[in-house]
Amino acid sequence: MSMPKRTLLKVIVLGDSGVGKTSLMNQYVYKKFSQQYKSTIGADFVTKEVEIDGKPVTLQIWDTAGQERFQSLGAAFYRGADCCILVYDVNIAKSFETLQNWHDEFLNQVDPTDPDTFPFVLIGNKIDVDGGNSRVVCEKTAREWCASRENSMPYFETSAKEGYNVDDAFLCIAKTAILNQ
Ligand code: GTP
Ligand code: MG
Repeated sequence: MSMPKRTLLKVIVLGDSGVGKTSLMNQYVYKKFSQQYKSTIGADFVTKEVEIDGKPVTLQIWDTAGQERFQSLGAAFYRGADCCILVYDVNIAKSFETLQNWHDEFLNQVDPTDPDTFPFVLIGNKIDVDGGNSRVVCEKTAREWCASRENSMPYFETSAKEGYNVDDAFLCIAKTAILNQ
């Protein structure tokens, strides 16, 4: 009996600086969280072995820099992506408003055969902050934005700090990416 072939899925994490992209990835892969902010420079990836519907899958997660001055590096990292994770901070309106731009720029650079069906997943992070009292983007607004797209996006609200909903979000990301292979 031969071993089932391992599928490699490349996912790209995008969103404004400080929304918690690196923290989400560290929580998912290493179950670690740091309060300290070290802005990502350029981009880097980590891998995680998972099983989706009984099949072995390697998730290659590309963590990118939200800072403007690194944005021109994007295109090279995006090549061959199977899914894009958009992240915003539910406590910062601007990080939600820039999502459309991240989305459009990504599609521009990747130029997939069918941009309308390219898989995205949206994450609203930092729902733990101030017990939810400093939140400025409500769940309904985020869900409406996800639904407005031709191929609607799955949506997750997470806390990278507490590990809340992080595994579920990445599981959905893997399943969404696999469908596009
Ligand atoms: P860039 O690399 O600059 O693009 O930022 P980033 O999106 O990778 O943000 P990062 O993960 O570095 O997190 C920024 C800051 O927010 C850090 O101080 C984290 O500790 C904090 N942070 C991230 N996620 C959460 C969260 O869910 N809750 C709380 N309370 N803080 C968080
Ligand atoms: Mg980072």
